[in-house]
Amino acid sequence: MERNLAMDLVRVTEAAALACGRWVGKGHKDAADEAATEAMRRTLDSIEFCGTVVIGEGEMDEAPMLYIGEKVGSGCAGAPEVDIAVDPLEGTNICAKGKTGAITTIALAPRGGFLHAPDMYMEKIAVGPEAHGCIDLNASPEENLKRVAQAKSCYVEDLTVVILDRPRHEKIVNEVRKAGARIHLISDGDVAPAIAATVLGSGVDMLMGIGGAPEGVLAAAALKCMGGDMQGRLVFMNREEKARARTMGIDDFDKVYTAEEMAQGDVVFAATGVTNGELLHGVRYMSGGAETHSIVMRSKSRTVRFIRAQHQFDYKPIY
Ligand code: FBP
Repeated sequence: MERNLAMDLVRVTEAAALACGRWVGKGHKDAADEAATEAMRRTLDSIEFCGTVVIGEGEMDEAPMLYIGEKVGSGCAGAPEVDIAVDPLEGTNICAKGKTGAITTIALAPRGGFLHAPDMYMEKIAVGPEAHGCIDLNASPEENLKRVAQAKSCYVEDLTVVILDRPRHEKIVNEVRKAGARIHLISDGDVAPAIAATVLGSGVDMLMGIGGAPEGVLAAAALKCMGGDMQGRLVFMNREEKARARTMGIDDFDKVYTAEEMAQGDVVFAATGVTNGELLHGVRYMSGGAETHSIVMRSKSRTVRFIRAQHQFDYKPIY
């Protein structure tokens, strides 16, 4: 990618957060998601690139916008051709209930750079840079914890693992507890904690468990930019999911993907907080405007920027 599109991407996640931030705690997850999606879609068209959505809100016949295959960007001649992965509101329930950790996210890669992950589950493990190369999805939680503790020069008891609070995770939770590590069970939203594992002082050391595959690709893009490590394996619930994966070019159903395999080439990732979380503050509205807190990064330079922005609505009447 010739141009650094990082700032353009932050504007996109900020716009989505400012739009769905109005729905925090109102109990309408679909309305919040629609507001974020619509704002993201609109802002994307102001960017000079030829983008194709490869991870989005669903198939063309399932989603009115940001569907897989949709072209976005102002698309001028000579503009960079990129693939886009989006989750306009990651944590729709969190937003609807006003809980912690909802974010708006986008990632961009050169054409063909993202794993075309179907909308299904993925088993994931993610860690920060100190533990890069130590994780193995085929090893037990206990073994992974030992390796990460060794890499971080601490005890397993010092580690905090984030896991989605789901019945399917009973076994993994028991194993992590038995190994002695601390657990933070979350109700939703596993992208932000995967990224938080790479941020010193975030209080998160690892993410483990099964969550959405599209969210896995977005997290992989961020972890690659931050020098963290991640592995993911698709979890097939039925034959239809396998057939669907095949149409998206996936034939090895047991493959363990590395972050690099899920997000190849020069990748850019941006996210903005909707509600407060371990990684980002949520949107704060005030007289005539709002403040947002975002993170943006690029794998080529490994520069990670935290951006606190103040928005004046008189000059952005759309909000
Ligand atoms: P939504 O934002 O689409 O509601 O997804 C939130 C999320 O919690 C993801 O972060 C996670 O990967 C996935 O859903 C987990 O799926 P499930 O709720 O089916 O366990």
